[in-house]
Amino acid sequence: MKTKLLIIAVVTTAVVGNFISCKKEDSASIKPTTAYLDLPAIAYNYSGQFPNEVATLGRVLFYDAHLSVNNAVACGSCHKQALAFSDNVAFSRGFENHLALRNTLPIQNIPMGGPFFGPANLFWDGRAQFLPAMVLMPIANHIEMGMSDLNALVERLKGLPYYDNLFQEAYGSTEITKDEVSTALAAFTSSIFSNKTRFDRYMMGQASLSAIEQQGKDLFSNKYNCNGCHHVEQSFFGYPTDSSFINIGLDVNYSDNGVGLITGNPADNGKFRIPSLRNVALTAPYMHDGRFATLDEVLEHYSHGIANHPNLDSRLKTPENTPIAMNISSQEKVAIVAFLNTFTDYSMITDPKFSSPFKVR
Ligand code: HEC
Ligand code: HEC
Repeated sequence: MKTKLLIIAVVTTAVVGNFISCKKEDSASIKPTTAYLDLPAIAYNYSGQFPNEVATLGRVLFYDAHLSVNNAVACGSCHKQALAFSDNVAFSRGFENHLALRNTLPIQNIPMGGPFFGPANLFWDGRAQFLPAMVLMPIANHIEMGMSDLNALVERLKGLPYYDNLFQEAYGSTEITKDEVSTALAAFTSSIFSNKTRFDRYMMGQASLSAIEQQGKDLFSNKYNCNGCHHVEQSFFGYPTDSSFINIGLDVNYSDNGVGLITGNPADNGKFRIPSLRNVALTAPYMHDGRFATLDEVLEHYSHGIANHPNLDSRLKTPENTPIAMNISSQEKVAIVAFLNTFTDYSMITDPKFSSPFKVR
């Protein structure tokens, strides 16, 4: 079996090498390794586990720039593993340098959604409820990948020789359908799981926090009640537990009204999903529009920057109905940031199973 795969790999690589050498620069720089990708089946869907081979196919699709209209942008162009699958700019660039409208969210511990698991509340405004449907959206999106005709995508994939073997292994046939593409992308994205931060190990009694981290934890959980919204202890081992949408008073008038744009209800203006703080040290810049470059700037917002928006959450208001100023001291900021740094999962961001299978020549 091993030998057979190796032969397929060698033959296919040669074919793909030829294929790619007649293409333009960006795709010429990537060369797929079609050897079996060792991706354990840790992904769950609404009916159980995805086979490993389906997630493996999804991994190749995730990193393949052929999914964009001009062969230049892959999912992985914006969702970078070293950054917990987020990006280090306020707005990532899609094909032909179009700017995305919101800050790129990290991909980790993504809920599947659907009839068995309930709404997944994907995106900053929770507008997508089912991962396999969601993963096709960036491909078709006119800013991100621009492949508005998904049938044309299927045709394109059929022209790429390395997919024959991957679809065969995943679905038992070399025939390619949109549904297979979306299931595979959902299988891969939902297999990107993080549970090895120092804070996770602390919660399991396997690690301790330093004095300053412990102080940060007390400030986070008690004095400033960040945990009242971010629930890091409750969600330390899995999916976010709070799916409410909150206005934290970033502006008096939001240029992007978030949930309000979907419902059309002014009472929803400026409301966004409570972001997970897992790997937060890696996901700068912060907020739905990437307005804050550092965690210090985020803390400065809660300290003195909360604006008096009519939809400001009551937890961020005084009894007189004005915005609170947390007045977090600079020593306290250092402690809170030290605590937030315990949420970094070095194993997820270096795990070869989640890395690009396309090697640069
Ligand atoms: C041009 C950059 C870009 C590309 C390319 C891109 N994304 Fe994204 N992704 C984003 C942005 C920006 C958001 C947040 C959008 C929002 O909330 O409105 C996002 C959100 C997501 C989310 C939701 C995460 C959550 O917690 O709700 C998933 C999952 C995701 N992308 C997967 C993918 C997949 C799969 C692909 C490839 C098919 C892809 N993305 C391509 C920028 C990109
Ligand atoms: C009332 C609920 C609430 C409270 C209390 C709260 N947050 Fe937030 N936090 C949010 C929401 C909602 C966002 C996203 C807002 C947006 O982008 O418009 C956010 C964003 C953040 C971000 C940026 C995350 C990212 O990936 O962009 C950080 C960091 C953060 N909060 C830390 C804290 C800390 C530290 C405290 C306590 C000092 C705190 N929060 C208190 C609701 C809250």
